Amino acid sequence: MKNIILLLLVMASLQSCKKHDDYTLFSDVPDLIMPDNGLRFKEIKDYKNYKIVATHYVTDNNELRYILANKKAYKALYEKEDFPEGSILVNIAWSVKKMSKFNEAIEANEIQQIDYSIKDSSKFSNNPGNWGYASFEKRNGTYQSSTEGTARCIACHNLAKDTDYKFSSFQSLQ
Ligand code: HEC
Repeated sequence: MKNIILLLLVMASLQSCKKHDDYTLFSDVPDLIMPDNGLRFKEIKDYKNYKIVATHYVTDNNELRYILANKKAYKALYEKEDFPEGSILVNIAWSVKKMSKFNEAIEANEIQQIDYSIKDSSKFSNNPGNWGYASFEKRNGTYQSSTEGTARCIACHNLAKDTDYKFSSFQSLQ
């Protein structure tokens, strides 16, 4: 019996090493739901494994933004194809601060919010481009669903109508 337990422990630790080697990261996102459209934070529970496709600096509120794409959205951006069903783009907004060791540089400080958009024609056939929007704000280390509604997301993203309501373009790494 002891040997079996030992064997199981060894197998479990080998398994966790394997995960570590693959650099597969698992996020534990809170179970939050957007009040006006039912989208869950859990929908992007593996967002740490998405690829960064663009970075932006927003000057009106001095935030650094990381745009991440799931596999489907990444392929579409990379290949310059239309976004297929199930495409997800995530926008992580960071406050910034001066780098303590080098004042002329600024660095990401704290996450302010995580927004995402998902293309889902079964749930969002009435939305432009069939995109659904969700926003989770981080206050004092805790996330909460945005209560402001998603009509404002849709309204402003209409400005990017000619690129399927997405502002981001692929930021080449070469
Ligand atoms: C006043 C205009 C405006 C509003 C309101 C707005 N966005 Fe955006 N959104 C932008 C702009 C501009 C960008 C690109 C710059 C950036 O990274 O923030 C962007 C980028 C994004 C991206 C990255 C993909 C893309 O389209 O480039 C997501 C995801 C996103 N927004 C989700 C949301 C969600 C969810 C809401 C509502 C809670 C929202 N946005 C509200 C203007 C807006």
